Amino acid sequence: MTAAPPAPAAPHNRTHDVGGWSPSSWRTRPTAQQPEWPDPSALRAACAQLARLPPLVTSFEIDALRTQLAEAASGQRFILQGGECAETFDGCEPGAITSRLKILLQMSLVLVQGGRRRVTRIGRFAGQYAKPRSADRETRDGVTLPAYRGDLVNGPGFTAAERTPDPVRLVRGHARAALTLNFVRALVDGGFADLHHPEYWDLAFVRHSPLASEYQAMVDQIGDGVRLMETIVGMSVAQVNRAEFFTSHEGLVLDYEEAQTRQVPHRPGWWDLSTHFPWIGVRTSSPEGGHVEFFRGIENPVGVKVGPDTDPAALARTVEALDPHGTPGRVSLITRLGARDVGRLLPRAIDAVRRTGRPVAWICDPMHGNTETVVPQSGPGKGTPVKTRKFAHVIAEVEQSFEVHRAAGTHLAGIHVELTGENVTECTGGARCISEEMLADAYRSPVDPRLNYEQSLELAMLVARRMRG
Ligand code: PEP
Ligand code: CO
Repeated sequence: MTAAPPAPAAPHNRTHDVGGWSPSSWRTRPTAQQPEWPDPSALRAACAQLARLPPLVTSFEIDALRTQLAEAASGQRFILQGGECAETFDGCEPGAITSRLKILLQMSLVLVQGGRRRVTRIGRFAGQYAKPRSADRETRDGVTLPAYRGDLVNGPGFTAAERTPDPVRLVRGHARAALTLNFVRALVDGGFADLHHPEYWDLAFVRHSPLASEYQAMVDQIGDGVRLMETIVGMSVAQVNRAEFFTSHEGLVLDYEEAQTRQVPHRPGWWDLSTHFPWIGVRTSSPEGGHVEFFRGIENPVGVKVGPDTDPAALARTVEALDPHGTPGRVSLITRLGARDVGRLLPRAIDAVRRTGRPVAWICDPMHGNTETVVPQSGPGKGTPVKTRKFAHVIAEVEQSFEVHRAAGTHLAGIHVELTGENVTECTGGARCISEEMLADAYRSPVDPRLNYEQSLELAMLVARRMRG
């Protein structure tokens, strides 16, 4: 991600047909999940300002990621995509950014070393500020206000002032994303002092797992492998890998995306320069809707979430619309079907997409199909319903996805997870056996429950084990 040297000017033929498309053509389609901005002139002013500001990423970086996604689709590489469910403007602070980056880097080292495959890291950050909602409005004590749609749109407080969508937030979101990205680029450039010393990692949990000796062997191997590589290459592992950290967010608020979609010198096409890899959420993935219309015209690789309610025939139409020419790396399908149904639903999705002939990258999101509400029977949170996910379900969905792809002759190209580098207690299970009674101890997520530091590393170890096996 650091000023990657411009790729040699490969003849880049526009690979998808953009007939009838323009950055604003989505406005002619039914477009779900958009804020009702009360003041059109304020919205126009904010978008005009956004369109003038420097871009957050470059077309060279975007192209490099598309190539890597193509490699992942064919099984030569593995994608690790992760971060918060929702970033907040307040959460733009160095501690949170550092610990999130650190866990992603550590997981990727585990995957490289244990899984024996090159790994591409994609953060869910520097723009993950907007959330889809099941209802447009929320009513409390007889008062009805617009739902909170993420800091990019409005505030969480239940007052008319906070909940009224404010387009100034689009500009502020761009600034927060730039601050985040600036710090990420600096950290990746400088290297984390302790990254290549697994003996400094916080690995006490390893002892608590039934797989303790296997985990320990993996940790030792990582240390040895990293030291060997540094000796051979003569650079620290952080330097070797520094060009490889990408950003992603759900491309939900199309005013924000459109304003940052541009043409660049010497390369054809339109680029959404707000992020490397935008994805379309499950609620906005209709092939006839505004989101698919917008994303079909940009050069970026595009992700599409696939849920239990996604109709396979509609999915096929979405893939064809986004990728009319079968360009490798262009479309990634991020499946979030749930541990219970993945074995039944994933083969259907694979079949439908196979018939399109498009070479998609299949990524497993084992979080969003496994969310449940529990009511702890004892402990500090006794009696209060809380949203959680069971680590065992997360693992089960990933493992079954490996199996289904193996049986279908496709590859699991990567995983997409919600995590934090902190030791929160939001998901149950893992080596440390977090119980429902412990959820209230350190539950901090304002939205979806995240894997904590230890659970994230353990997931990486289990995935690495499975990749090799
Ligand atoms: C998310 O990734 O936070 C999300 C809302 O996902 P989905 O669209 O898969 O529900
Ligand atoms: Co989420």
